[in-house]
Amino acid sequence: MNKPVLEVKNIWKTYHVKVLGGLKTYEVVALRGVSLKIEKGEVLGILGESGCGKSTLGKIALGLEIPDEGEVFWFGNSLKNLDRKTCKTLRPKVQAVLQDPYSSLNPRYKIKEVLLEPYLINVSPDKKEGLSKAQELLNQVGLDTSVLEKYPHELSGGQRQRIALARALMVNPELLVLDEPTSALDVTIQAQILELMKTLKERYQLSYLLISHSLPVVFYLADWIGVIYLGTLVELCHKSSFKRLNHHPYTELLIRSYLDPFAPSQIFSEIEIELNPPISDGCVFLDRCPVKTKDCYKTNPSLVKKTDLQYIACFNI
Ligand SMILES: Nc1ncnc2c1ncn2[C@@H]1O[C@H](COP(=O)(O)OP(=O)(O)OP(=O)(O)O)[C@@H](O)[C@H]1O
Ligand code: SF4
Ligand SMILES: [Mg+2]
Repeated sequence: MNKPVLEVKNIWKTYHVKVLGGLKTYEVVALRGVSLKIEKGEVLGILGESGCGKSTLGKIALGLEIPDEGEVFWFGNSLKNLDRKTCKTLRPKVQAVLQDPYSSLNPRYKIKEVLLEPYLINVSPDKKEGLSKAQELLNQVGLDTSVLEKYPHELSGGQRQRIALARALMVNPELLVLDEPTSALDVTIQAQILELMKTLKERYQLSYLLISHSLPVVFYLADWIGVIYLGTLVELCHKSSFKRLNHHPYTELLIRSYLDPFAPSQIFSEIEIELNPPISDGCVFLDRCPVKTKDCYKTNPSLVKKTDLQYIACFNI
């Protein structure tokens, strides 16, 4: 059986932030015991509000940040003990596409160089072959090959995001970590890029870790939907059953905020949170939970399997 393309097990990450010119340090717990996996060809969408730890999870999945505790596996290989050769083979297979393509494309490089660079380093030193791959990918992402001679600033936001996708694909990846890939784009372009991501996924048999604060974006692409609250994965639900199952109280609030376009400010004021609360014994959602009971003060519930299609961290659902 194929190993999951990505697995993270019990990941904890704390940042130590210096304030007052370094006189004081405080801790931000960005992730608290997160475990999840992505099978080949699957899209896992991660939802949660600003500061809940989504990008930290993405960086850890990409191997750009090291967790304080827990382990990350690419295709069954722990990143803790990857030898140099395996690392060189596996690293190109896990690529990132970020929110702001402008900051992730070197402004001094023409698009031709942007696309060729990762190919020449990771796939083959043959420039001609690389150029032909770049042309094929431009075609796949819906751009004319004339953009090869342009600089990133000469392209629109949507075109730049298409280039970011093409660049990621230059090295034949299997997993893309997409961190808010459409949030910098206006609604029509957003829809086009989402559609493109769906097509590319099928064509190149990709898996995605899709990070977004938008339920519709996640719902459009994901097979599994994960919800993070204050660094804790509170629910993991398959899309096929998302509409008919009872959800974690925080997921319910997120859903309500999307169902009623006039409600978000009201609902989010209900769940306005202290971004760095002390870790107490109780449930991480305790302060805001409308259905808490006395058990919720004792321990933070861990994610448990409710059905084959849903896992929830809550004592009362
Ligand atoms: N390098 C860092 N140093 C210190 N604190 C950090 C660092 N990176 C993230 N954090 C903190 O960790 C927490 C989680 O941050 P993260 O960027 O993962 O959130 P996010 O869910 O991606 O938010 P957003 O939706 O705004 O992008 C936040 O409180 C953030 O301030
Ligand atoms: S465990 Fe308790 S406080 Fe936490 S989400 Fe469930 S009901 Fe609410
Ligand atoms: Mg983020």
